[in-house]
Amino acid sequence: MTVSAVILAAGKGTRMRSALPKVLHQVAGKAMLSHVVAAAQAAEVTQTVVVYGHGGEQVKALLEGQNVQLAEQKEQLGTGHAVSQAMAQVQGDTVLVLYGDVPLIQPQTLQDLLALVNSEQMALLTLTMDNPQGYGRIVRNANNEAVAIVEQKDATPEQLAINEINTGILACRRELLEQVLPALSNNNAQGEYYLTDIIAMAVERGITVATHQPQQPWEVDGVNDKIQLARLERIYQQQIAEQLMAQGAKVLDPARLDVRGQVSVDEDVVLDVGVVLEGNVTLGKNVVIGPYCHIRNSTIGDNTVIESHSVIDGTTIGASATIGPFARLRPGTQLADQVKVGNFVETKATTVGVGSKINHLSYVGDANLGKEVNVGAGTITCNYDGANKFTTTIKDKAFIGSNSSLVAPVSVGEGATVGAGSVITTDVDDEHLAVSRAKQRQISGWQRPTKKK
Ligand code: UD1
Ligand code: CA
Repeated sequence: MTVSAVILAAGKGTRMRSALPKVLHQVAGKAMLSHVVAAAQAAEVTQTVVVYGHGGEQVKALLEGQNVQLAEQKEQLGTGHAVSQAMAQVQGDTVLVLYGDVPLIQPQTLQDLLALVNSEQMALLTLTMDNPQGYGRIVRNANNEAVAIVEQKDATPEQLAINEINTGILACRRELLEQVLPALSNNNAQGEYYLTDIIAMAVERGITVATHQPQQPWEVDGVNDKIQLARLERIYQQQIAEQLMAQGAKVLDPARLDVRGQVSVDEDVVLDVGVVLEGNVTLGKNVVIGPYCHIRNSTIGDNTVIESHSVIDGTTIGASATIGPFARLRPGTQLADQVKVGNFVETKATTVGVGSKINHLSYVGDANLGKEVNVGAGTITCNYDGANKFTTTIKDKAFIGSNSSLVAPVSVGEGATVGAGSVITTDVDDEHLAVSRAKQRQISGWQRPTKKK
């Protein structure tokens, strides 16, 4: 069976009250439309066609370079009309209709639905709800076979009492759509070409309609406004938190963790409240992430502790290191085992050897630090002359006194010491002391100035 997913994404989303097309609003840092494309592709569809309308350029930009085709729907004349716009491109013998604003649909549900489709049968994803208000209702005959969908606005009072609703997601043979879509009419309460009318048309042609319900009701929740978007975000985050807990992480409060990407955790990782993990993050055994840390595209080794309010991006940290609180590690930072980086320290494009310490208030950029280096409070690597960047090298066991400026390119030798408050402009030899500050003077009998009368 070859399957083409047709994803409807042409709607404007007026109720979002946003300049951004609705399907580009994000859940967990990823556009809703991209979640749907990913679910379809995980369900192993052979082709994906996105029907776009509003915000076409932005939708195109999002999907660029992906294995997705686009079909334009210039005017939004209804869901049936939308699917028609894709048909010229559809190649699969089976079509799966999805929605760009129903982002949490699960691949397994799609596979279960597709398994029901054959040349005599189409498949409809339905949901039994306490409050079916607003949805299309599934009409069944005396044999309990689904035979039609009636929209809320077209329903009789008896039909409105039906609590099995149409999620909109369906699958059938392409051939059936080719036969019935051209025959749709817009003679209904909304003046739209309803995709839902194909159910009764299929039944007329002797096709049976199998129904299936998703494992979780939230899989078919759609987003029309930012309140619904926020609800789905929390549902999604709860799922992710549960996956991380199943892998051995202790999540102090699943409602206060945000994952926007791919996170891998080892046993006994601790994630405190307010943690945001973005991109590809890998956390080794016993890693502790303190409150309100933001970590993006980074790998952190076993037993390392990240204290609260640290921001870590594009960084690799070894085992048993201690970072923060209030540390900022920028891209290209590579810290070896047992490194300590303390409060108000910023690093960038810097390697730091085993056991070295940068404990307070420093900027270390474009630098290579050896083992067991001690960088005193207030040290700055002056890596930029306004035009070019230069490298600072600090060799093993060097000691940089507090409030020193290391003007790159410059190197401090093994075991060398830089006196506090120095401005170092030339290389310091191994085991030497370099000090470049004005000598202290003492003036006896000095009188402080007094205020003029
Ligand atoms: C549709 C179903 C209804 C179902 C409900 C589930 C129809 C006629 N009705 O109703 O049975 O219970 O979804 O949420 O299908 N779209 C386009 N182009 C269009 C029209 C719609 O791309 O011309 C997209 C919209 O952007 C939206 C989706 O299709 O993402 C659904 O359209 P909408 O008009 O909201 O359908 P509902 O009235 O909710
Ligand atoms: Ca809708």
